[in-house]
Amino acid sequence: MRESVRTTLAAVLLAGGIACYAQQGGLVQNASARQSLSLNGPWKIIVDPYEAGYYDFHQHPIPDGGLGANRVPAGKSDKLELTFLPESATLQVPGDWNTQKPEFLWYEGTIWYQREFQYAKRPGRRLFLWFGAANYQAIVFLNGKKLGQHEGGFTPFEFEVTGAVRDGVNAVVVKVDDQRHPDAVPPNMTDWWNYGGLTRDVKLIDVPETFVQDYFVQFEKGSLNRVAGWVRLDGARKRQRVVIRIPESSASATVETDDSGYARFAFDANVIPWSPENPKLYDVRVEAETDSVEERIGFRTIETKGQKILLNGKPVFLRGVSIHAEAPIRAGRVFSEGDATVLLTWAKEMGCNFVRLAHYPHDEAMTRTADRLGLLVWSEVPVYWAVQWENPVAYANAEQQLATMIERDHNRASVIFWSMANETPLGDARTRFLASLAAKARSLDSTRLITAATLTHYSDPSTIAIDDPLGQYLDVIGCNEYIGWYDGAPTKADHVNFTTVYDKPMAISEFGAEAPYGRHGDDDTVWTEEFQANVYRHQIPMLQRIPFLQGMTAWILVDFRCPRRPLAGIQDYYNRKGLFSDRGQKKQAYYVLRDYYRSLAAGK
Ligand code: GCU
Repeated sequence: MRESVRTTLAAVLLAGGIACYAQQGGLVQNASARQSLSLNGPWKIIVDPYEAGYYDFHQHPIPDGGLGANRVPAGKSDKLELTFLPESATLQVPGDWNTQKPEFLWYEGTIWYQREFQYAKRPGRRLFLWFGAANYQAIVFLNGKKLGQHEGGFTPFEFEVTGAVRDGVNAVVVKVDDQRHPDAVPPNMTDWWNYGGLTRDVKLIDVPETFVQDYFVQFEKGSLNRVAGWVRLDGARKRQRVVIRIPESSASATVETDDSGYARFAFDANVIPWSPENPKLYDVRVEAETDSVEERIGFRTIETKGQKILLNGKPVFLRGVSIHAEAPIRAGRVFSEGDATVLLTWAKEMGCNFVRLAHYPHDEAMTRTADRLGLLVWSEVPVYWAVQWENPVAYANAEQQLATMIERDHNRASVIFWSMANETPLGDARTRFLASLAAKARSLDSTRLITAATLTHYSDPSTIAIDDPLGQYLDVIGCNEYIGWYDGAPTKADHVNFTTVYDKPMAISEFGAEAPYGRHGDDDTVWTEEFQANVYRHQIPMLQRIPFLQGMTAWILVDFRCPRRPLAGIQDYYNRKGLFSDRGQKKQAYYVLRDYYRSLAAGK
């Protein structure tokens, strides 16, 4: 997307609200449970690397929106070029474009999407055009009129379209541009594939004129028998009686929302706490006078006490693995419960009680499936590597993505950590940027723990010091270390110890080594399964020696596509640190970690 549009978008971001939030507050909460028309399926596309569908030949935006105007030829002499024809190619939505057509695998730029839908409007209803995500920037048009734009490739966004939807045939056009930019979040350098497109569900949500826009229902901080939270209505009738009900436990509360549609509540509830061992979910109903919504919610507490992490008041060790949002076997971006169930079942079977969803908010199918299967979750915004720490637009973008990540998943029992960043370089501007993000996260959700994955720092050749100044703003300090891979030989781990300046828990958020499945040699032959397994065998005793270590996430569950990993015959543009190959085959290191996690789970 041209700088001019990014500048406009930046101005909107800085104005404190992305153009796409047409109503106060935020997203329609629990979108998957709402009455809606799915817009998934084949969409017509036009590949537009020069953005000729949006800019004229002097690079000014085309006044009527170009392809967004969705014009059709006015007759046989109409020389219209910017139009979708019946013969236009199509792409499936949801889905990245890279894995749908071989010629799109490496494509970075703009692809236009277009589809029509029939609608019969009903009085007293409101309509929202909702996107689960679009990577990376989207400009959305309905019936030829620009609705707005959104930046950020991994969080939902929506536009109120109550007045814009017509009875009969409607046409949606979306310009999706996944070009990377140094001032973006993430910036232009990452260690994952830049999957572009309408990568998650698209739907037209249909709610009453005044509806339950958002709600937060969790245990009161520190309590295992009292539920607390809030509800927010949006619409003309903001003052209503609202009942929050957990039928299975016969617990409920009735509140009156105020002039802004908001009310807080707290009530005793005799519920079984959610845990990985017993992922008990309850039907929770939020019943206003004009709208009601229901979903499955688990109740648990998470807190730190000194250098311990307490789940439901008891110390927990997080046996984890990191996961990119890349579908197993099929490859491409995860967008379904099926994809999520495969990946999270693989983690569960390995003995995990914890997963780090790297390095960006995953499809909500992942957090809902983690709720269902019983896995604790580290959820992260893509503040990754070298972000422009002194650029207010980058901060506003990061904060918006953080706020939406929390807004979408704040009722997910599985989510215990909000992660502010990954491997960011030390510096005052960076620490200020991340401290602000952490403060924002706490203001939005005081019940979860704040973390970040920091870089390794040695205080002497055999001592890793946990002393990143960012740590003062975190509850749990993540630390990425690659002893045996980027850092010395595997045996180096036998002589390294950790110290910390913080009376806080630490989690090793990354460790591992690369090996293509089926490539063999002795323990010292790099790029072999034996070498990778040997790294794990030396890592584990080192990690066991760290008294303040309360969790670990191996990097990574599955090999994943990466443009920075070209090694022919070994990487072939995959990062091969997976414990599974990209075809779902288990490597030797899988069994080393699995046996360790099973021994931990058995209390040995
Ligand atoms: C980094 C980074 C990951 C990356 C990994 C690697 O620490 O956090 O995103 O893929 O290490 O180099 O394999």
